[in-house]
Amino acid sequence: MSRISMQVSRKQKVAADMLFKTPVMLLVALLVQFSQAITDPNDVAGLQVLFTSLNSPGQLTSWVASNGDPCGQSWLGVKCRGSSVIEVSIPNLQLSGTLGYQLTSLTSLTLFDVSNNVISGTIPYQLPPNLETLNLGNNHFADVLPYSISQMTKLTYLNASHNQLSGSLSDMFSNLTNLKSMDLSFNSISGSLPQSFVDLTSLTSLFIQNNQFSGDLNVIADLKFENLEVENNQFTGWIPTSFNNIPNFKSSGNSFSSSPAPPPPPFTPPPPAPPSSSNNGRSPRAPSSASDSGGGGGTVLNGGAIAGIVIACILGIIVVILIIMFFCWKPKENAFDEEKQPIPAVVALPVTSTKGVKENVEQRPASSPTDGFSLKPPPLAPAQAEALTGKKPPTKRAKHPITASAFSVADLQLATNSFSQENLVGEGTLGRVYKAELPDGKLLAVKKIDITSSSSIQKEEDFMDVISNISRLRHGNIAELVGYCTEHGQRLLVYEFLNKGALSDVLHVSDEAAKQELTWNVRVKVALGSARALEYLHEVCQPSVVHKNFKSANILLDDELNPHLSDCGIAAFSPSPERQVVSTQMTDSFGYSAPEYAMSGIYTWKSDVYSFGVVMLELLTGRKPLDSERPRIEQSLVRWATPQLHDIDALAKMVDPALKGMYPAKSLSRFADIIAQCVQPEPEFRPPMSEVVQSLVRLMQRATLSKRRSGDEQKGLDNHDLADGSL
Ligand SMILES: *[C@@H]1O[C@H](CO)[C@@H](O)[C@H](O)[C@H]1NC(C)=O
Ligand SMILES: *[C@@H]1O[C@H](CO)[C@@H](O)[C@H](O)[C@H]1NC(C)=O
Repeated sequence: MSRISMQVSRKQKVAADMLFKTPVMLLVALLVQFSQAITDPNDVAGLQVLFTSLNSPGQLTSWVASNGDPCGQSWLGVKCRGSSVIEVSIPNLQLSGTLGYQLTSLTSLTLFDVSNNVISGTIPYQLPPNLETLNLGNNHFADVLPYSISQMTKLTYLNASHNQLSGSLSDMFSNLTNLKSMDLSFNSISGSLPQSFVDLTSLTSLFIQNNQFSGDLNVIADLKFENLEVENNQFTGWIPTSFNNIPNFKSSGNSFSSSPAPPPPPFTPPPPAPPSSSNNGRSPRAPSSASDSGGGGGTVLNGGAIAGIVIACILGIIVVILIIMFFCWKPKENAFDEEKQPIPAVVALPVTSTKGVKENVEQRPASSPTDGFSLKPPPLAPAQAEALTGKKPPTKRAKHPITASAFSVADLQLATNSFSQENLVGEGTLGRVYKAELPDGKLLAVKKIDITSSSSIQKEEDFMDVISNISRLRHGNIAELVGYCTEHGQRLLVYEFLNKGALSDVLHVSDEAAKQELTWNVRVKVALGSARALEYLHEVCQPSVVHKNFKSANILLDDELNPHLSDCGIAAFSPSPERQVVSTQMTDSFGYSAPEYAMSGIYTWKSDVYSFGVVMLELLTGRKPLDSERPRIEQSLVRWATPQLHDIDALAKMVDPALKGMYPAKSLSRFADIIAQCVQPEPEFRPPMSEVVQSLVRLMQRATLSKRRSGDEQKGLDNHDLADGSL
């Protein structure tokens, strides 16, 4: 038999194969067509998860939760090309629930419209990647715009208006060069417009009215708008003259400067001195900053410019126009050129205290310093992280405009009642933190840095470099630096004030009532927000930023218990190693230190991940990382807790008694799994923060799903309950 077949030539064999196989394949294909779906299985999966996340609503005719065929069964609002779903348009249907977590599988989708529904939850990070039109308008979406939008380069239309978005916009718009229309109006978005707005070169319509944006409009001064609506925000500074030609421009309800002075350039042009010149070392400040701060601390240059303009006004309008032409337009271009100059590392390395290894590993050198602060998520290159030791900081100084305002010592003294004891709200490694109230009632947190703590902050230039870099960190979960003060040799940092204070205080110090608010779901939310902050620092910022002091005392909570990570980017100020040993504040941080740091002084982003795991443990157990009042074996939280993380019974005993058993067991054990990964003794096994974020997102979404299932019987429960922690 085999002999015969071997004699058959190759060709014949192939022909014979075809003869038998082709009809079989055709038959199979036909069967598949009739019995099953014509739609791409990935698209089916994406839509089915969407359907169940929206609570499987009857309004979505033909949609089913399993074994569906969206294209074959013509689901309501779904449009296909071949077997691919290209449009999902389901507005005005009173849809509730969330968007789920699997929209990324809809890779052919170009249009996604869920506007005018009552969908809640966060806008998921997982969005269809190739969208041209994304309409989320008029829903109940909360939290921040997800950073994944930065990758949606085909996007031409983005509408997230009339939602409950908050936080500030991340610097994520640099690749959205096709975006023509963006509507973020009627939300609660705060902070200033991110620098990457300059790259929105196709943008002709921008609606950001009725939010809480602050800062000035200079970054969008050069865009060619047809529609620009910015009314009812907290914008300041001058309205760029280029806006006079916008057909539809609305700006009322802001605090724009109404003085007759023409808009000055976005920042003062630096003298054309060689980069090494020390004159050039100081970062120019935004003129509007000085005006925001209630008159304090304007630079000499600005004062001069304004004075000059006042004189010019007296001389006549014609002269003013001439000044605009000569001093405003030209320097503006210069200023932007200036901005493209390479900047040094985000956290400038301390110049004088780099004898030991401790101070040296400041950030991953994922890119050369010439990359500037572009915000593409850098590929993680952990091996390189350890490689960076003993590098001196680049001698070139940062040339970025400082968006934070300059305050005067007098202003801050007034606002803090002369730094009185009653206003003292915290004490950190670098100095004390005071609550401040501005004359207009605005609350701020002022960090008064102990200038003897580190030599790297005594030089004003070094200090200003760090300020310049910190003021560029923009994320909804990062405490915003709103100002600084360097007058009379002082070093003060001014942050937004967050009402509920530090997580550590709520967990370990406050009264029972405050702790009651920390329900299980709030704890998960705090973990997720803090993870997002670290993800941003590590993987989005470039060069990436290592926090170096991640602990619950640095996680501040706002009224809605959203976490805001503080002290980002100030690792450069950390005391020299010798001082760290004596400082009591540092011993507080010991409970968070990764073993490799404790043993060899090597600190990398992986050490941050470890500290993050410790904070999660704190959230789970309600215990302090180091607690000398407990029995010996329980004093170190990590040592006591980690061996028990995979034991469900032990977990149930470890969990914070303040939760009174009100937590879903599954959620708890998943939370514990994430902790176990983060606190692994070997740094190379710890996950990057983006992975931690994804795990926490999944944990949260599963909680929502299982809740919804049980809610089917209970009725009336929606996603808001997730935050209330009634699970
Ligand atoms: C965005 O969506 C809202 C709500 O559906 C709508 O009122 C608004 O006109 C849309 N904006 C743009 C620019 O299309
Ligand atoms: C922009 O696109 C480039 C090229 O595709 C990519 O390398 C970069 O990461 C993107 N930047 C952002 C902010 O996503």
